[in-house]
Amino acid sequence: MLPNFNWLLGLGLLGAASSAHSIQLSKHAQDLFDESMFFQDMIYDPNAHYLRFFYYPLAAGVHETRSTVWRTIGLLQRNHGDDAAEAAKILELVIADQEKDTSKQWYGDYTVYPEQPTVGEPAYDPVIYNSWDPNWRSFISTTLIIVYEEYRDLLPSHVQDLILESIYNSTVGDTYRVGGVDDDNLYPAYSNPWLMRTVASSWTGLKMNDSNMTYWGDKWAEEFLDLYNVNNTISEYNSPTYVGVSLCALTIAAKYMTNITNVPVIAQHSEQIIRDIWEVESLLWNPMMRNFAGPWDRTYGYDMNNYVAIMSLWIWSFIGKDNVYHNPNPIGTMTHADDLEIGPLLAVLADFQKKLIPKSVLKRFRTSHFVGEHTYHGQTYAPPVDYEPRNVTTWVSANLTIGTESFNQSALGGSREDTTAFNPAVVQWLRSDGSVGYFTWYSTEKAMQADVSPYALNLTYPQGNETSVFTFALSSNPLGAKRDIYTLDAIDGLKIEVGGTVNPEPVVSFCGILGGTCPIVQ
Ligand SMILES: *[C@@H]1O[C@H](CO)[C@@H](O)[C@H](O)[C@H]1NC(C)=O
Ligand SMILES: *[C@@H]1O[C@H](CO)[C@@H](O)[C@H](O)[C@H]1NC(C)=O
Ligand SMILES: *[C@@H]1O[C@H](CO)[C@@H](O)[C@H](O)[C@H]1NC(C)=O
Ligand SMILES: *[C@@H]1O[C@H](CO)[C@@H](O)[C@H](O)[C@H]1NC(C)=O
Ligand SMILES: *[C@@H]1O[C@H](CO)[C@@H](O)[C@H](O)[C@H]1NC(C)=O
Ligand SMILES: *[C@@H]1O[C@H](CO)[C@@H](O)[C@H](O)[C@H]1NC(C)=O
Ligand SMILES: *[C@@H]1O[C@H](CO)[C@@H](O)[C@H](O)[C@H]1NC(C)=O
Ligand SMILES: *[C@@H]1O[C@H](CO)[C@@H](O)[C@H](O)[C@H]1NC(C)=O
Ligand SMILES: *[C@@H]1O[C@H](CO)[C@@H](O)[C@H](O)[C@H]1NC(C)=O
Ligand SMILES: *[C@@H]1O[C@H](CO)[C@@H](O)[C@H](O)[C@H]1NC(C)=O
Repeated sequence: MLPNFNWLLGLGLLGAASSAHSIQLSKHAQDLFDESMFFQDMIYDPNAHYLRFFYYPLAAGVHETRSTVWRTIGLLQRNHGDDAAEAAKILELVIADQEKDTSKQWYGDYTVYPEQPTVGEPAYDPVIYNSWDPNWRSFISTTLIIVYEEYRDLLPSHVQDLILESIYNSTVGDTYRVGGVDDDNLYPAYSNPWLMRTVASSWTGLKMNDSNMTYWGDKWAEEFLDLYNVNNTISEYNSPTYVGVSLCALTIAAKYMTNITNVPVIAQHSEQIIRDIWEVESLLWNPMMRNFAGPWDRTYGYDMNNYVAIMSLWIWSFIGKDNVYHNPNPIGTMTHADDLEIGPLLAVLADFQKKLIPKSVLKRFRTSHFVGEHTYHGQTYAPPVDYEPRNVTTWVSANLTIGTESFNQSALGGSREDTTAFNPAVVQWLRSDGSVGYFTWYSTEKAMQADVSPYALNLTYPQGNETSVFTFALSSNPLGAKRDIYTLDAIDGLKIEVGGTVNPEPVVSFCGILGGTCPIVQ
């Protein structure tokens, strides 16, 4: 670092990329970085050294752990004033609260929020995905890997050692996870945490000379590949948030573990998997609507213009925000707005990942380069809930997309058994005001045969009978169109004809934030 760094900065001569340690960011990656940090700076509490817990109304007043660790990448990359010292302070605090008792199922895990009682104390029962979140270990340890690889020289040596010890404990704690045991669900098909754990185990094994970790990293990579190889798709298929997390893990493997002597299995395959994922997603993306067509295994919304999906942030970091949001909403009005807090992590990996993706594939995400009407066929497999691979068909045209998958499963709601997130049949259309309308099938059956052709969706219940129903969540009409929808012809921008063995007259309910005739789904 320049000895007169602070003085120069005071005169405003050095910009964001002034630190000798920071990664040079391209324009779009820097834009995502800046917008995320601008937002983080607003909600940072310098007295607590934590970000405030944003977005969940009941969380007002407390702070949040995972996003605060993401922030350390932002601080170290920016490295203005006391940013680096602040990052060190955050890391010490977060790691101090990491679980240290090896006999606990949540050993090596971090707090969800620092004010929470100690997990396992009388007033705080250990409830997985609730009072403790097993995925937090991997989310935080993979973030710490980036901190260590890129910025450790900015941190005091005792903090560097603490980071390694923390990652090590987190990785050991992650070995306690076995799908189907102790309420855990970490199967190879749960792609995003499975990949994060695999990458952390390989990296930590190499860094700490722990051959058992290296061995298991490779074994878990092979179990992932067994599913992946069914049709070169990840099991947590086309999930606009979680494919983005899987890409983080794969990019960490590609960036930090391919330039070494004994390249772990996950790193050997990471670049190809990243390319495959973008190939598939580019064919499902509708650049006119700025949305992935369905089906979505897990989603937090039905129109990506209205919620923050991590995949949107990746695309933003590659080709700019204009290609991602039709009419950008202020962040605080979007669903899952807190996911913008991962921005710095994505931004510092973005340019590396972008180099792995063919230009012809990236071009398909540009609004100005719609490839035209096309149909995609694919397959994906997520045991144990899937009895057999799911068969995907998606038709994409400029103003209408129809995407669906056939499935035969042991539970309602897909692999995560979540009927709100699982959307195996989705129709989206562009409306007169430029907004996106949608309807999406709601889980009432464990098996469905589904097919798509241009303008047509055919859904059949192999296990159905005369009591079966077809339920769809439908968007409200845009402003200016009819507010009350009782018949299919009242739906704005779409003409629907119903055939088959069903009663063609729909029963309509409204599930609103302030009442209606049904509970809210999303
Ligand atoms: C790691 O776990 C050990 C117990 O195995 C504990 O003694 C140590 O304090 C932990 N380190 C950190 C940084 O939490
Ligand atoms: C080796 O790793 C496995 C799986 O991660 C774990 O169950 C086992 O306890 C580890 N063994 C040792 C000696 O660390
Ligand atoms: C791992 O082994 C290498 C080479 O034998 C050595 O240089 C390094 O210090 C070791 N690292 C740890 C954390 O033990
Ligand atoms: C591999 O590349 C990464 C990213 O540039 C770097 O941080 C790391 O030090 C490199 N490792 C080796 C062994 O050269
Ligand atoms: C598997 O993927 C390829 C493209 O990689 C596709 O052409 C093929 O139709 C898929 N197979 C099935 C059975 O869906
Ligand atoms: C759909 O978009 C195409 C191409 O932009 C346009 O020609 C066509 O009129 C649109 N169709 C409808 C039904 O809006
Ligand atoms: C998907 O297609 C394969 C044949 O390629 C078939 O074996 C499998 O049963 C189908 N899956 C479903 C859920 O229909
Ligand atoms: C719809 O799918 C069912 C079951 O796969 C099939 O029997 C039927 O012929 C299809 N109908 C149309 C109109 O394609
Ligand atoms: C679904 O899988 C089950 C279990 O393997 C099987 O019995 C059934 O025939 C499959 N097909 C349908 C349509 O349910
Ligand atoms: C129809 O299917 C439902 C759900 O599987 C079942 O509970 C019901 O008994 C079936 N009714 C008839 C008449 O078979």
